[in-house]
Amino acid sequence: MEVISKRFFLYLSYNKALDRMAKRWGSKFGANKIIGGQTFSQAIPLITQLNQEGFQVTVDHLGEFVDSVDDAREHVRECIESIKAIAYHQLDTEMSVKLTSLGLDISRDLVLEHMELILSKAKEYGITVTLDMEDSSRCPAILDIYKTLRQKYENVGTVIQSYLYRSDQDVDDLKQFSPYLRLVKGAYKESGKVAFPEKQKVDENLKHLIKKQLLNGHYTAVASHDEAMIDYTIGLVKEHNIPNDRFEFQMLYGMRNQLQSDLVKKGYTVRIYLPYGEDWYGYFMRRLAERPANIAFALKGIFSK
Ligand code: FDA
Repeated sequence: MEVISKRFFLYLSYNKALDRMAKRWGSKFGANKIIGGQTFSQAIPLITQLNQEGFQVTVDHLGEFVDSVDDAREHVRECIESIKAIAYHQLDTEMSVKLTSLGLDISRDLVLEHMELILSKAKEYGITVTLDMEDSSRCPAILDIYKTLRQKYENVGTVIQSYLYRSDQDVDDLKQFSPYLRLVKGAYKESGKVAFPEKQKVDENLKHLIKKQLLNGHYTAVASHDEAMIDYTIGLVKEHNIPNDRFEFQMLYGMRNQLQSDLVKKGYTVRIYLPYGEDWYGYFMRRLAERPANIAFALKGIFSK
């Protein structure tokens, strides 16, 4: 049953007509429980509050699969305005971006030009920008762009998904770049040709990648709500005397709030991934696919005023 609902919501996440409708309806369906607002300004009080509670943040201006240059440029403009606002309001937040929102599907040169604009502005204020990982067809291009940018910028990171067979080799190939990597299980609908179909293998591979990245000595963000992954990481860093400033935990805003707070109380760095913007549909559907229990707050959103 869980597998069917996962496939169903991932299928819906690609539906363009529903995406357009969702934009018109605003953040109904309970989306406001997991996004920071429709604009960056609306998210500022929440980021401030999270910082005061001891959390670090990464903001993501929602949007993906852009196919017009104007839309991609608009997205760049929004990212740069948000970077300026982060600096102005002295917020403790990084930024995450999806390269498909910056023109990846249009041309490599365009997305590189856009990332240069974003990274150079972010560098001025000491802000790190992470390239989110998208579906497997885009993975080679995203890693290639990461490697190109990393040669010029220190303040760029990217993501590796443990469900992909290729990820072990990718971590080896990235080693020479001393990468800041966010390690995740993976959120897209993938075939057995490229990704482990069994959850147990995905979990085992995430542990394997966490160990590899940590023991390579590179900064490691373990992005998971799974206590087994968190406990594993804590055991590993203790065993190898890895200091707390070499890794962090990351979780999505609105997910496992108690666990987030407990980890901060224990002295670990916890970064909250906080999306904002009008393009919440694809993000929201992937969250429903991951955890059918999220449907409860979606239903509440529909029926509440
Ligand atoms: P998983 O979904 O396997 O759940 C494991 C267990 O955790 C559950 O059985 C339950 O016990 C517990 N759990 C999970 N969610 C819970 C909840 N809401 N409440 C209570 N218990 C819960 N993906 C991607 O493809 N590209 C990317 O760039 C990113 N970026 C990213 C950033 C951050 C900060 C996070 C946390 C995640 C991503 N992801 C991602 C998504 C990621 O790939 C994955 O789909 C989700 O994190 C779900 O996998 P988990 O590891 O959290 O556990």
